[in-house]
Amino acid sequence: MGHEHPAVTPETERRTRPWSAVEERAAHARRGIVSFADRGGRMTAGQQRAWDRSWGRLGADLADLAPDGRRADLLDGDGRLNPAAWFGRTADLRLEIGSGMGETTAALAEAEPGTDHVAIEVYPPGLGQLLMRTEAAGLENLRLLRGDAVVVLRDRIAPDSLDGLRVYYPDPWTKRRHHKRRLVQPATVALMASRLRPGATLHLATDVAEYAEWMLEVTDGEPLLENPHGGFAPRPAWRPRTKFETRAEAEGRPSSDLLLVRGTGRAPADAGS
Ligand SMILES: C[S@@+](CC[C@H](N)C(=O)[O-])C[C@H]1O[C@@H](n2cnc3c(N)ncnc32)[C@H](O)[C@@H]1O
Repeated sequence: MGHEHPAVTPETERRTRPWSAVEERAAHARRGIVSFADRGGRMTAGQQRAWDRSWGRLGADLADLAPDGRRADLLDGDGRLNPAAWFGRTADLRLEIGSGMGETTAALAEAEPGTDHVAIEVYPPGLGQLLMRTEAAGLENLRLLRGDAVVVLRDRIAPDSLDGLRVYYPDPWTKRRHHKRRLVQPATVALMASRLRPGATLHLATDVAEYAEWMLEVTDGEPLLENPHGGFAPRPAWRPRTKFETRAEAEGRPSSDLLLVRGTGRAPADAGS
């Protein structure tokens, strides 16, 4: 066995370089641990038609969102998303991670016309469905991003910039060996918090009691977040009640909401950058 090219293991890296949260996340990325499952599935004809009509105007692919990419026009000089360039106006910006089929997303964008919304999702049929809803409601304050939201936050969202971040019913990854795939993890919550401006809200909801407790524990441990409710929040009346939530409740799985506020503390310089 030759010794000229020793393998660079995480342990070697740990000993020879500062092991920041960012590198730890990069290691996760190298190991291919992601919070979404490959669901397969094709778009319906209606979703495809909406895609053909409107994706170019209302959607963007994370892969194109790079300083040398096809949608460099949507970025600022630092390579971060420039919402004014995408929406054609300056307004508060709220992001939703994992918009699914877009029922809640479209309803909230319609209810909050003065705010701009970006929905991030990896599942094309879901994005196609949300495009149909966006067209039907004539929404001008909603844009769709296809890609891994963790990478979007890390690479394309400026620190201290968001006015809100929403994660509704994320995949619960209930088996213990899958817990590492949960979207809500200390490192991702630190990243989420760092992208919020002080005073902005991170809103989480789930119908899985054990995941709810996990979320509470993880967010309690994040120094940039404050919990004005000291625990779960009363269900906000403005969060649209979906068929999924109603069914879960009927089956004995009431939903829990967490409303966390970004405090005034400074985000670590390396938080996700
Ligand atoms: C269980 S569904 C919930 C959808 C929707 N929020 C709702 O309440 O009906 C979770 C969604 O999150 C998406 N997702 C999971 N991890 C993601 C990630 N890292 N980036 C973007 N989307 C993600 C999945 O593709 C899936 O559509």
